[in-house]
Amino acid sequence: MKILIIYHTKTGHTQEAITPMIEGLKAKGTKVDVSLAKDFNGSMLSDYDALIVGTPCWAGSSGIAGVASPVIKAIKSIPENELQGKLCGGVAVHAKYGGESTLRHLEKLLSQKGCESLLTAPVVKAGTLMSILKGPSVTKEAEEELRKFGEGFASQLLN
Ligand SMILES: Cc1cc2nc3c(=O)[nH]c(=O)nc-3n(C[C@H](O)[C@H](O)[C@H](O)COP(=O)(O)O)c2cc1C
Repeated sequence: MKILIIYHTKTGHTQEAITPMIEGLKAKGTKVDVSLAKDFNGSMLSDYDALIVGTPCWAGSSGIAGVASPVIKAIKSIPENELQGKLCGGVAVHAKYGGESTLRHLEKLLSQKGCESLLTAPVVKAGTLMSILKGPSVTKEAEEELRKFGEGFASQLLN
C-alpha cells in the first residue's frame, strides 16, 4: 500500500509534525512518498492508495478558513472524484488557535474531490502567530501522538 503526503511549511513546524507520522506509517509496513504542495500536481495521485495533507493554520482563527494557500492550490489540481475510495488524512499545525477550523476547511476541500471521510490527527501546537520567525517546536508528547496517528492510519489502510 502506498501513501502520498503533501504539505506546506514556511518555518518548518509542519515538517516537524510530519516526520514522526511517517515513522508510524512505515512501522506498519506501508510505503510513503512525500511532496511539497508546490511540487504536487493532482495526476500524481493515481499511483497511490491514500493521501495525507499537512498544513499550517493560516487564518484559521477566523473560523471560516485555515488551509495554507499552496495546499489549497495543490488540492484544486486533483481531478474530480480522484479521492473516491482512497483513505485521506489531515494534519494541521497552529501557533495558538484555529487548527480545528483548518481541519474542517481541509475536509471540505478534499470532499470536493471525492474524499468520503478524513482521518485527522490531533491539532499540533507549534510556531508563532504569522510565522515571522521559527517558534516553539512540536513537543515530544505531540510527536508521540503523531507517530500513533501514523500507525493507526496505516492499520486502517491495510485492513
Ligand atoms: C498567513 C498566516 C496566518 C496564520 N494564522 C494563524 C492563526 O489563525 N492561528 C494560529 O494559531 N497561527 C496562525 N499562523 C501561524 C502558523 O500556523 C504557525 O506558526 C505554524 O506553526 C507554522 O507552520 P510552518 O512552520 O510549517 O509554516 C499563521 C501563519 C501565517 C503565515
